[in-house]
Amino acid sequence: MQDMFSLEGRTALVTGGSRGIGFSIAQAFIAAGARVVITARGEEQLQAAARELGVNAIARRCDNTDPTDIARAVESAWELAPIDILVNNAGISPYYKRAEYVTVADWDSVIDVNLRGSFFCATEVAKRMFESGRAGSIINISSVGGSTPLERLNVYGVSKAGLDHMTRILALEWADRNVRVNGIAPGWTETDFTGDLFASRWGEKLRADIPLGRLATSSDIAGAAVYLASDASSYVTGSLIVVDGGRGLR
Ligand SMILES: NC(=O)c1ccc[n+]([C@@H]2O[C@H](COP(=O)([O-])OP(=O)(O)OC[C@H]3O[C@@H](n4cnc5c(N)ncnc54)[C@H](OP(=O)(O)O)[C@@H]3O)[C@@H](O)[C@H]2O)c1
Repeated sequence: MQDMFSLEGRTALVTGGSRGIGFSIAQAFIAAGARVVITARGEEQLQAAARELGVNAIARRCDNTDPTDIARAVESAWELAPIDILVNNAGISPYYKRAEYVTVADWDSVIDVNLRGSFFCATEVAKRMFESGRAGSIINISSVGGSTPLERLNVYGVSKAGLDHMTRILALEWADRNVRVNGIAPGWTETDFTGDLFASRWGEKLRADIPLGRLATSSDIAGAAVYLASDASSYVTGSLIVVDGGRGLR
């Protein structure tokens, strides 16, 4: 039987692929047979990540806060090979503070990457998929914080709730073009993003509350991405897969 999870012959664009969850997703896609273009801002780490991923990976610098930069990076990636899979993974959560201390600059920094950047990556890729008549899979990396209110992660939670609704709207609009749009909501995952948090006393409490008894690793998240990218999920669109070690059950 043909492998439903194979990504042989497909090309994926993974934003924020230079480390953490994005890097693990790129690794898993390559293992499933895909070629991958990874993007991020930090050139040195990005190039090192592409080298580590091997011959089936290429790096393109891109700042997701800048829609012009996104359009340029998608165009440049598409010239290498038409894109079949987009993973909107680039995301930030630069602070933990109560809402009354949040500044306009805090708000803009989070929304610009997590929500606006993801929207314009999706539209830049989708327009080209439509023009070329290709089917596609777009995967938005959300968070459990998009549905569960997490204190002091206020704008982050708002950005991910917006991303989840964006997933459903784009899935509906683009179903007739055979472009599927789904999301993954990771729970607490050990990456640079969460390093300081997990080292704190609050982090200890978060860890203790997870029914499976451990934090996620970034490769725990990558399996769901392979599923959503592959033909195994060909009838799935507008869905959100929660990968949280059972945390939402409590
Ligand atoms: N770790 C968790 O516990 C957790 C839980 C739920 C959801 N998530 C989500 O998972 C995704 C990845 O998180 P992670 O933990 O892997 O984070 P990470 O280790 O900090 O990696 C973030 C990636 O995004 C890139 N990035 C950040 N700002 C960018 C920008 N303006 N333009 C382009 N690239 C940018 C980073 O590279 P540069 O800094 O060089 O640009 C890096 O490659 C995020 O969307 C996050 O919200 C994480």
